[in-house]
Amino acid sequence: MQRLKTSILLVAIIFLAGCQANQPKNSKDLFDFGWKFTKGEAIGAENPNFIDQGWQDVDLPHDWSIEGPFSKENASFSRGAWLPAGKCAYRKSFEIKKNQKDKRFVIYFEGAYRNSEVWINGNFLGTRPLGYASFHYDMTPYINFGGNNTLTVKLDNSAQPGSRWYTGTGIYRHVHLITTDKLYVPVWGNYIVTNDCSAKEATIKIETEIKNDYNEEKSIIVRQTAFDSNSNEVSSIETKENLAAGESKINKSTLKVKNPLLWNPTTPNLYRIKTELIVNGNVAYAENTKTGIRKIEFDATNGFFLNGKNIKLKGVCLHHDGGPLGAAVYARTTERQLEILREMGCNAVRTAHNPFSEEFMNICDSMGFFVMSEMFDEWEKVKEPATTQNGEKIRIPVNYYADIFKKWADKDLTDFVLRDRNHPSVIMWSIGNEIDQMRRPEGAPIGKRLADIVHKLDYRPVTNGVHGYGWGVWPDSTAAATSDIYGYNYIKDDGFIKERKLQPNTMAIVTEHESAQSFYPRGTYLYGDDKKAWWDKLAYEHKDAYEWVEGRDIRGESGMDAWKWVKNRPYVMGMFIWTGFDYLGEVIPFGWPARSSSFAPIDLCGFPKDGFFFYQSQWTDQPMVHIFPHWNLEGHEGETVTVYAYTNCDEVELFQDGKSLGKQKNDTKGVEYQSWDAVYQAGELKAISYINGNQVAEKTVKTAGAPAKILISTRKTEMTANSQDLIYVECTVVDKDGNLVPKADNKIEFSIDGPAVIAGVGNGNNMSHEPFQANYRNAFNGKCLAIIKSTNTAGEIIITAKSVDLESANISLSSK
Ligand code: GAL
Repeated sequence: MQRLKTSILLVAIIFLAGCQANQPKNSKDLFDFGWKFTKGEAIGAENPNFIDQGWQDVDLPHDWSIEGPFSKENASFSRGAWLPAGKCAYRKSFEIKKNQKDKRFVIYFEGAYRNSEVWINGNFLGTRPLGYASFHYDMTPYINFGGNNTLTVKLDNSAQPGSRWYTGTGIYRHVHLITTDKLYVPVWGNYIVTNDCSAKEATIKIETEIKNDYNEEKSIIVRQTAFDSNSNEVSSIETKENLAAGESKINKSTLKVKNPLLWNPTTPNLYRIKTELIVNGNVAYAENTKTGIRKIEFDATNGFFLNGKNIKLKGVCLHHDGGPLGAAVYARTTERQLEILREMGCNAVRTAHNPFSEEFMNICDSMGFFVMSEMFDEWEKVKEPATTQNGEKIRIPVNYYADIFKKWADKDLTDFVLRDRNHPSVIMWSIGNEIDQMRRPEGAPIGKRLADIVHKLDYRPVTNGVHGYGWGVWPDSTAAATSDIYGYNYIKDDGFIKERKLQPNTMAIVTEHESAQSFYPRGTYLYGDDKKAWWDKLAYEHKDAYEWVEGRDIRGESGMDAWKWVKNRPYVMGMFIWTGFDYLGEVIPFGWPARSSSFAPIDLCGFPKDGFFFYQSQWTDQPMVHIFPHWNLEGHEGETVTVYAYTNCDEVELFQDGKSLGKQKNDTKGVEYQSWDAVYQAGELKAISYINGNQVAEKTVKTAGAPAKILISTRKTEMTANSQDLIYVECTVVDKDGNLVPKADNKIEFSIDGPAVIAGVGNGNNMSHEPFQANYRNAFNGKCLAIIKSTNTAGEIIITAKSVDLESANISLSSK
């Protein structure tokens, strides 16, 4: 709870002044509420006199594509989750007081998908094609002081399919109104480098851009002060500057911090740097920037080091969507995703394959995650990903970025680095994912140009997720050498060997691997006729799908191999699995009706699949054991069924109905799972794991009876009454004894008593076409989810989950 408040407020406090008497009135106010919205062209909507009566009232973040419906006719195709996309417009009216005439007003968008055009009071402010870019405009010359102002935003996401994955459509990230003095630090103008540190002392180098929009010269004192997380001042320095009218300068100063509390994954200590511009003893401008003091180092022999300690990156790639919420993700969505990933043992995220939200970076800072922040999925060449239509595998070019690369890439990349270079969580920048031009010499000058842009702005290394190693087409060596760290996508063992011979002194990371922990949806185990029936019912459209899915067998062996290759090679910094969570779109190898991917060890709603426990067995130390499949294999009595276990202990023993089926060693260098053949009959399976012969963990799976009741669980019960906080209400259908009913699909209806609304529902079934915005959901393999959102009213909230024939359940929550 406290952490959530912190993360939501973090952005807002950056510009907030302290409470001393002569503090300036800078602010960075959330500008998310009270917008008007329409789909379509909205001709003339930029005109201040335009009548927007009849437009819908919306609050941001807002993604209208996620409202659906799913349709085979939608041009977004399986790549875009079969959801609608197109043109739309937003308007917002606001007043600026007459007495604010001496202020400066900036409108800041964290992201609007896509091709945004923005006007204030009919004056065009600018356009931004990339929907993931954060951008801002100075509105000051056009402000109507003492009267009404109208902001108009038009978006165009009609060129479909627009991406290889689901993008969403709308102003799907936060908007802020920034108000400052005319003497100020421009947006992203502060650069704070904390990498020169030890446990004894940190030298913090600060470069601050300062700008004077007054018509007269200003003599300024720039004061930089470091505060620890308890707001104790730990260091301060003042420097002097003279700025002529209209002039801007970079001010440089250095702070020393004695015995700093270093940032790391277990204790992600944060500091706050307060930057003040002081004129004649008065603070004209102040801003606070959160940062962490930590040292990152990279080595071609031993990999990655944090504060002198060697750390293997146990990473996942994530796409930006939040499952049932689409692209309109709130802080809590990210925070919950990272909580679940941490339970799996993950310590790093690759932001595949585009800039993520500022909020995401803030949360990674405060939770202690490492981030590989990635910019491009296309350079100059359009991607034509494989997809399916009416049973045929075809390649359709996506209207993503290639056509604007020449014009926008340098600006987008520059802004991307400027925005996030103060985050301790960011450890490297990626300038590409599977860029085809990297296979040819033409990739070299582009790679060099992009890497140079990053190096000019920041000290962190550049990587690039390149594929092809060992697939016959080796990337161009000059192009590959433009990155500091070689990023390998889907490299295999022999590829590593060959690469190391060719490039013995390069730094290496596995930017992406696996794509196959589990293709069957969570909790789906199919045998004999059941398997045939499943495939028949699916009426899948991809002719190769069956082989593909079956080829990656139930144990997810390709993931096991990838991790084995990485963990035994000290020079490889770590790996990022594809993906941490299932995401919308890119349904390969399936076609319609699939509408979300199924590569990940965690489903679209955050429910773990078996693969989650595989990584837990590899990436965590707390003794655990997991077994599968479930034990409701009605119709298969008397048949032999293989039971699998994942454990991080020395040995594991499986018992069927109390009888041991044998103890097996956990050979972490070779086999990464254990298996036993059991003859199926209703009853109980129990796995016990041992360390040094002592029993340390166990897991029981029982044959469940008929669905009898609903169990509700949440990770928290309190939220902030700010219309943006969430509680994820997880429902499990159980039998009368409380055992999960593994195939239950009961329809569950949710009702709310109190100040909250349902933001979305889901169940992790990647084939479901039920709407994400509803007050009901069918359970899928025994589970479903309702995402509850706060309003701006505080109070007690009762959530009730009901279903015909089941004992209902409720939970008390509160909003404060
Ligand atoms: C990779 C690609 C990812 C995703 C994945 C699916 O090659 O980088 O974006 O498409 O394949 O398997």
